[in-house]
Order: sequence, then C-alpha cells, then structure tokens
Amino acid sequence: MLTRRDCIKSAAAAAGSIAFPFQLVHGQTATLLAREIPSSGETIPIIGLGGAGSFGRLADSGDIETLREVMRTLYLNGGTVFDTAEAYGPSEGISGQLAQDLGIEEQLFWSTKVNSAKPEWGPSYPDVTQQQIQDSFDRIGKSPIDLMQIHNLGDIKTQLPMIQQLKDEGRARYIGITYDTPDRNHELIQAMRDETLDFIGIDYAVDNPAAAETILPLAQDRGIAVIIYQPFGRTRLWSRVAGHQVPEWAQEFNANSWAQFFLKYVIAHPAVTVVTPATSKPTNLIDNLAGGIGPLPDSAMLRRMEEFVAALPSAG
Ligand SMILES: NC(=O)c1ccc[n+]([C@@H]2O[C@H](COP(=O)([O-])OP(=O)(O)OC[C@H]3O[C@@H](n4cnc5c(N)ncnc54)[C@H](OP(=O)(O)O)[C@@H]3O)[C@@H](O)[C@H]2O)c1
Repeated sequence: MLTRRDCIKSAAAAAGSIAFPFQLVHGQTATLLAREIPSSGETIPIIGLGGAGSFGRLADSGDIETLREVMRTLYLNGGTVFDTAEAYGPSEGISGQLAQDLGIEEQLFWSTKVNSAKPEWGPSYPDVTQQQIQDSFDRIGKSPIDLMQIHNLGDIKTQLPMIQQLKDEGRARYIGITYDTPDRNHELIQAMRDETLDFIGIDYAVDNPAAAETILPLAQDRGIAVIIYQPFGRTRLWSRVAGHQVPEWAQEFNANSWAQFFLKYVIAHPAVTVVTPATSKPTNLIDNLAGGIGPLPDSAMLRRMEEFVAALPSAG
C-alpha cells in the first residue's frame, strides 16, 4: 500500500511551481480542518475532490498519468473525500482503478450516487438502479461504500428505500440526496424534514449564497451533514475574478489565492461538512487543500466577501 511518505516525491514533481505539498511549503505540518458527520460523530477532512467537471473531462480524455497524480496529491495532503457518480462517465471507473493501483481505495471516503430515474427506463428502472449500485461497487472496489446518494433528487420514493436497505445491510455507511436545481428547493426541504438522511449535497458559493437562508440551517437542525458542490460555480467565479487580485484584507483569514478565498467562504458556514471542488491539476488541488487550513472569515467578513465579488466588473 502507498503511504503518504512514499508518494510525496512524485506528487511534488507533478505539482510544478509548488514544489512540495503545502505542509512543507509552510515549513511545518499543517492539518486540514475536519468536521463531524452529525449522524455518527466521525470526522472527515473539510476539503475533498470532485469527480465531474474538469476531473471528469480529463478522465474522458484518458490522461491516466495526470489523474493518478491528482488522486495521489489528494491522499498525501490529507484529503480523503472523493465525490463521484455513475453519471460522470468513465470518471468513476478510472478513479476507482487508480485508487486500487495506489492501494488507497480503503483510505478514501467515496461519495457516489445512483442516477436520477429516466423515463425511458420504464417500470424496470429499480432494476437499473440496482445494477448501477453494483457497478459502483465493482468500479470503486470498496465495501462498504462510504456514502451512497440519490443524484439530483432522483425518485426519492423508490430509490431511498433501496439505498436505506444498502445501509441496513452494512454495504453503505451513509446515505443522502443531492440536487442542483434551485427551483426544486421545496422537494429537498421536504425530504430533509420527512426522511432520515445522513447527507445532502448542494451548490453553495460566494455568489450563490441562497442555501444559507433555509437549507443549511435546516441541515443543522436535523443533524444532516452537507457536501458542497460547485464552490467555484464551475467556470462562473473564475470569469468573474479574471484580471482581479485577491484583496489584501483576505490575509486576515489566510486566503492567498482566489480558490482559497472561495473555499473559505463556503466552509465558514458551520453546517458545511465538506466541499469537493473538481480539478484536473495537482497544483490546483494543493491550492484548494490549503483553503482548508487556518482561520476562517467571520460573519462580517463573509458579507464583505459577497459584496466584493458582486461589485467586480464582469470580464464580459
Ligand atoms: N447534484 C450533484 O450531485 C452535483 C452537481 C454539481 C457538482 N457535483 C460535484 O461537485 C464537484 C465540483 O463541482 P464542479 O466540478 O461542477 O465545479 P467547481 O468545483 O465549482 O469548479 C471546477 C472548476 O474550477 C477550476 N479550478 C479548481 N481548482 C482551481 C484552482 N485552485 N485554481 C483555479 N481554478 C481551479 C477547475 O479547473 P482545473 O481543472 O483547471 O483546476 C474547474 O474548471 C463535481 O466535480 C461533482 O463531484 C455534484
């Protein structure tokens, strides 16, 4: 099995201008912040990695060596949470295979998802869901899987009992529901109130703070862990800040890059358990992981961050 010590050298090489993992850049070992999963008390590192977006595109391109360095960089810098899904195409199979090659599949915290039900599957779609679940086990090579979610609300009535059964049988440690469509907020809120969920997965970002109104406080009340998706709005925030420097005052909470600025905004909310930005680059992953170290902005600073980003002249 790969140890964190074993893989430092090659990941450092892949990291380019950031020559070493951040704990060496900073001259001492720094520990990623971790948060508790309310339903168990288990803690997980607050920054993870997303398997869609640019990571998914890299998987589509078949650039296995770069993907291997990304996975290795996650692990050697203390990250464990990897968010994937059947719907992400080759991404889940390749990341599962790479983790097994590196001998780290058991150490990672795998969050995967059953597909939203598709009308063309007809009445047999529970069988399709069962097959997808089995395919995820085969691809990831770990049992129990850490977290099995229903993708984008799916068909909660049919699919939630299926993943609950997985949990009851000890084949999934946690279960949850994800969504990314603000016009279906009410469905997520209803499920959070009515069902027993360990996790939800939602979008939240400095320019997309709506979840802080109802969903995040409700998660705290109901003891549901929260995975944050799209902390950069995919390309949206990068376009917004293109050509602009991170403000000087962000040093007050040790944000040295825009990625750290955006991630610290997200994880400052106490309901947030983990955030899984996607990246296809080891250097960017190190940057992101460094966003999970040190002080976080307070509520006055959070408002300042929102206002600052909102006031930036749009690149377009
Ligand atoms: N409903 C759902 O279940 C759902 C919905 C959406 C997303 N998700 C999950 O959440 C993950 C994250 O969302 P996302 O992939 O849509 O978008 P995202 O994480 O907000 O943004 C990813 C983009 O940011 C860039 N980036 C990452 N780190 C950077 C850095 N340090 N500096 C500069 N650029 C950086 C990436 O490019 P580079 O590759 O060049 O770094 C990529 O273009 C997904 O991969 C997926 O796992 C789940």
